[in-house]
Parts: sequence; C-alpha cells; structure tokens
Amino acid sequence: MSVQQQKYDSNSGAVWAGLRDLNDRTDPPYDELRSDDRLDGRTVLITGATSGLGFAVAKNLAARGARLLLVSRREAVKELEAVRSACQGVGASVKMLRADMRDFSSIRTLAAGLADAGERIDVTISNAAVVPSSARETIDGYEEMLQVNALSPALLLTELLNNGVIPNNTYAGNGLDCNKGLLPRIVVIASEAHRAASTLNLDTLNTIEPYRMAESTPRYGWTKLLLLSFTRELARRLSVDSVDISVHALCPGPVASNIARETPAIARPLLNLFFRVFFQSPENAAYPVVYLAASNRIEGQTGFYQFLMRKRPPSNLAENINSGMAVWNAFEEIFRN
Ligand SMILES: NC(=O)c1ccc[n+]([C@@H]2O[C@H](COP(=O)([O-])OP(=O)(O)OC[C@H]3O[C@@H](n4cnc5c(N)ncnc54)[C@H](OP(=O)(O)O)[C@@H]3O)[C@@H](O)[C@H]2O)c1
Repeated sequence: MSVQQQKYDSNSGAVWAGLRDLNDRTDPPYDELRSDDRLDGRTVLITGATSGLGFAVAKNLAARGARLLLVSRREAVKELEAVRSACQGVGASVKMLRADMRDFSSIRTLAAGLADAGERIDVTISNAAVVPSSARETIDGYEEMLQVNALSPALLLTELLNNGVIPNNTYAGNGLDCNKGLLPRIVVIASEAHRAASTLNLDTLNTIEPYRMAESTPRYGWTKLLLLSFTRELARRLSVDSVDISVHALCPGPVASNIARETPAIARPLLNLFFRVFFQSPENAAYPVVYLAASNRIEGQTGFYQFLMRKRPPSNLAENINSGMAVWNAFEEIFRN
C-alpha cells in the first residue's frame, strides 16, 4: 500500500490527512476570486444544494447574479428561502427541482424535464454525495454510496450532454446555444480520499459488498476515484480539437457539513464539535467551487484538478487514460440497461 493510500485508509486517517493538507501553507493559492467574477444571466444547476458545501455555494452564486436550479431529493423550503434571500438586490432567481440520486429513473426524469422546458445550463455543479453507515441496496440494485456518489452524477451529466441542455457540439451539436459565447462549465466535487483506492474494481460495480461505518472512508474514496476517473475522461472527450465544455474537479478539503450524519448518535455531538473547531465552514470551503464556476480568468480552459485553491495532479490511477476509458465504458454499459 502506498503512503497516499495509507493516509486515507481509515476514517481517522482521512481526517488527519485532510487537516494536515488544510494547514499546509507551502503551496499558495494560484489565483483569487474577484468582485467582477459574476454569473448574471447565466444558469447554474447544483446537486445537493440543501446542506453543507452545496448550500453555501448556492448562496454565494445567488449573490453573484446566477439563475439557480437546485436539485434536491426533498422539499427544502427553508433552504430555498435562504438562497432566495441571498439574491436580493441582484435580480437572480432560484428554482428547486426534485430528484433522488439513488434512483436512475428520477435522474432521467429530471434531465428530460429540463429539455422539455427548453433549459440551457451554463454551469453544472455535481456536488451531492453520501457516506452511509453500511451498504444499502438501491431500487436499481446498486450500492447506495456508489450510485449517489459516482453513477448518478455521471448519468445526469451524460443525459444533459446528450439532450443538449448543457449546450455542446460533441454530443448534441448545439454548442452555438452557449450563453454570450461563453463555454459551459462542469464542476465536479471529488475528494482527496480518491487516493485511498488502489484499483478501479470495476468487476464489483454490480455487487453489494457489506461494509461498516469504520470502513466507510476507503469505500467512499473508491466512489470518488470512479467519479474523478469519469470526470477526467469527460474532460478529454469534450476537448478533442478544441475545448467544447470546461470540465474541472476539486476537493474542497475538510468541511464542517452533515456528511457524517450517519455516525452513531452517541458520537455525533463530539464529532460536530470537532468539525466546527478544526474543519472549514461551508462558506469558506465554497471558495474554490465558486472560483471554478465563476472566474473570468479561466474561461476556455479545462481539466483542472485542485485541492482548495492549489492545483494538484490526481492519483496516477485517476489520471490514467485507460482507467478513464474503462470507467466510461463500464458506466455506459450500466446506463444502457
Ligand atoms: N465534508 C467534507 O469534509 C468533504 C471533504 C471532501 C469532499 N466533500 C464532498 O463535498 C460534497 C458536499 O458534501 P457535504 O460535505 O456538503 O455533505 P452534506 O452536508 O451531507 O451535503 C450533501 C448533499 O447531498 C444531498 N444528497 C445526499 N443524498 C442524496 C440523494 N440520494 N439524492 C439527492 N441529493 C442527495 C444532501 O441532501 P439532503 O439535504 O436531503 O440530505 C445534501 O444536500 C460531496 O461531494 C462530498 O463528497 C466533502
């Protein structure tokens, strides 16, 4: 096992690795957000915008003038109102759309509904994820963490590219629909925990392998490796001759969010206190996501992977072209059935 894998091999190991990275000041941010990095008149879709990082990103982008489509699995009235109030005075608008990432038909209905409504999405932020306390089977027969964190985000992007809701020439031939000539962007929230996985294990996609909470981090890391490999492949496919769509991925670092909601109730107060003291607030953690979504200076560029505001190479496995193609083909096979 490599040193990188050891760092993310357990829940506590991943927390310490994240904290060490967060406090490592040797590599300064490569750029910063400016007040003119705005999204007025542009439409942004965010999954998982009802909690933690996604909620903070939504409020920030609302204040930057974006028209927001927030995808939620539940009626989130309070959260919707909070994002709406962040738009006040900037003329932005917010709509809540329902979809459950545990259910492929729900994702397909969402994508078809957006196409029927004639929507054009400028920025898509794939953010929703879970860390269940044990393996659970979804209605589609996949393990929940795999489906929510990797399969469904890939399916949603695939559907939105194929039906041209994200305008593009590669799959839909409607790249000219780009708002103000600016390229659409896709921003995928990955995790440094992807380094925990030493193989793609694609032959286990169809099996429900039991795990316990204590083993959830390596399992989570594997789902993020699959998502990141898919994202790197997507970036390659969308920039064959020239960049058709900008595709970036990042790890936001440790965030004091609800990601550990399935921790046993007895440990939760202490964990929440630990998160609040040592982890970033969702508002601070949102910075690199907002940067990749809104920065004017990266227009036309693609294929970034960053930890916070530092550019980093992903793991060799995530970066490997054959891995990317293998994940792409395996996912395509699943989506065909
Ligand atoms: N927290 C960290 O330290 C950390 C570190 C690295 C990367 N990340 C990544 O950051 C992203 C945001 O996570 P977070 O930390 O902000 O966690 P969070 O507070 O738990 O937020 C997760 C979001 O995903 C949504 N979601 C979960 N299951 C869903 C489903 N089946 N269908 C639709 N939406 C679903 C949740 O909706 P509900 O509100 O309905 O539950 C919530 O809005 C994730 O991709 C995570 O992997 C987090």
